Amino acid sequence: MSKILTTESGAPIADNQNSASAGEYGPLLIQDQQLIEKLARFNRERIPERVVHARGSGAYGYFEVTDEVSQYTKADFLSAVGKRTDVFLRFSTVAGALGSSDAVRDPRGFALKFYTAEGNYDLVGNNTPVFFIKDPIKFPDFIHSQKRDPYTGIQEADNVWDFWAHSPASTHQITWLFGDRGIPASYRHMNGYGSHTYQWVSETGEAFWVKYHFKTNQGVRSLDGNQSAEVLGADADSHQRDLHQAIERGVFPSWTLYVQLMPVAEAANYRFNPFDLTKVWPHADYPLVKVGRLVLNQNPDNVFAEVEQSAFSPNNFVPGIGASPDKMLQGRLFAYADAQRYRLGVNHTQLAVNAPRATKAENYGQDGLSAVGRGRAKNYEPNSYDGPAQTDSALAAPVRLDGYTGTYTTPAHTKDDDFFQAGELYRLMSAGEQERLINNIAGFLAQVSRDDVVEKNLAHFHAADETYGARLEAAVAKLRAGDEG
Ligand code: HEM
Repeated sequence: MSKILTTESGAPIADNQNSASAGEYGPLLIQDQQLIEKLARFNRERIPERVVHARGSGAYGYFEVTDEVSQYTKADFLSAVGKRTDVFLRFSTVAGALGSSDAVRDPRGFALKFYTAEGNYDLVGNNTPVFFIKDPIKFPDFIHSQKRDPYTGIQEADNVWDFWAHSPASTHQITWLFGDRGIPASYRHMNGYGSHTYQWVSETGEAFWVKYHFKTNQGVRSLDGNQSAEVLGADADSHQRDLHQAIERGVFPSWTLYVQLMPVAEAANYRFNPFDLTKVWPHADYPLVKVGRLVLNQNPDNVFAEVEQSAFSPNNFVPGIGASPDKMLQGRLFAYADAQRYRLGVNHTQLAVNAPRATKAENYGQDGLSAVGRGRAKNYEPNSYDGPAQTDSALAAPVRLDGYTGTYTTPAHTKDDDFFQAGELYRLMSAGEQERLINNIAGFLAQVSRDDVVEKNLAHFHAADETYGARLEAAVAKLRAGDEG
């Protein structure tokens, strides 16, 4: 027998084609539970979209350790070669709204949830190893300047570049974003980075500062401005379609995870601040150490339930992994779970995609909107009823601190400024990529209406590399002269 259509409370529905009316031509009846429930339910389908990274795609898979790293971290899921851990990964663009297009020039999110036996570990990174700013107090202003203007309702070059004019540390990330990797061809063809410095601590208590690099095994592929315009015109969902269809076809994308490890004692005297998110650690200083393989092999069954309602938080750590003093990371340790309590409610950690899988959440938090509840268990601690109790075993290593409270700009180390790595990146590029970089930046910067804002920005590129600045200045001047003519 075929299944019976029911109301939310399980009662059979007699007619799902015609509303109940007062007579054949009459107005509709408020007693029509099926109609009222269906319309009311429909009105409530939307929830607030993520304030950033609203547009995204997700998939399940696993992480497998391929190389011994247990001497660096006591994290159980990294403890032995061959060990596999289930994961969920959500990719995203940053600035666009939920319904925006995929193939835009924008960083991509790379948010990974490891369902480990010691709880979920979230690594919420991007496809860029660096970021625009280095203090979280600037993040709301930064995002406001990149999204739609409150008056015109469109993204304004004036706002984007005005923010960057006041934020010289952005020069490195701008150089990255307007270079060839700025528009990935798909989510499968880009790398992922933890970006921040994190802490690893071994069983013996030895601590390291660590940076994560997920290198795509599909090869890095990108679109140039013309190709992206073509894709955007033809298919708003190009990244989602590519990821979903690849997995459906059994072509499972994979990444190789490497880390860079810095002994903690080396941080203080490193030539630049190793906790500065606008900088990379050169591989010559800290070479890549191979860790394992990430494979995505399963599409979610329901995009809303599993992708839209997924929640990643940089402060979901497991024993053996911890935070660093990176101020941006410190801000993020607060921001995500707070955003999710607003976006999804206090019990979002009980949703299947967010709940631990290889272990169980056991604590004394209770109630709140839509609580599933924890049965008859006592709701206070300590108790005499064998309730869950603390381990007395620190997750991460203590970090030694010194100084006075205050609002500081991060102190410069011996070889430290906001520009030198932007210059190094520029000089690393091929002649062709330099040319495209100049054209991409100039095309956008030339749209700015105020000369002082253009000049402030040009000064940053001059500071990064004299040729870079000069070429950009000439390209902007040419475009602006053309506009006037
Ligand atoms: C202080 C700086 C930052 C703040 C305050 C911040 C805040 C946020 C917030 C509130 C969300 C939405 C969370 C949600 O509703 O679930 C979000 C999403 C996200 N952020 Fe950040 N963010 C910052 C910097 C960064 C950086 C540096 C990265 C990468 C290295 C990053 C990567 C992401 C990703 C990947 C997502 C989407 C996660 C998902 O797929 O659900 N953010 N951010």
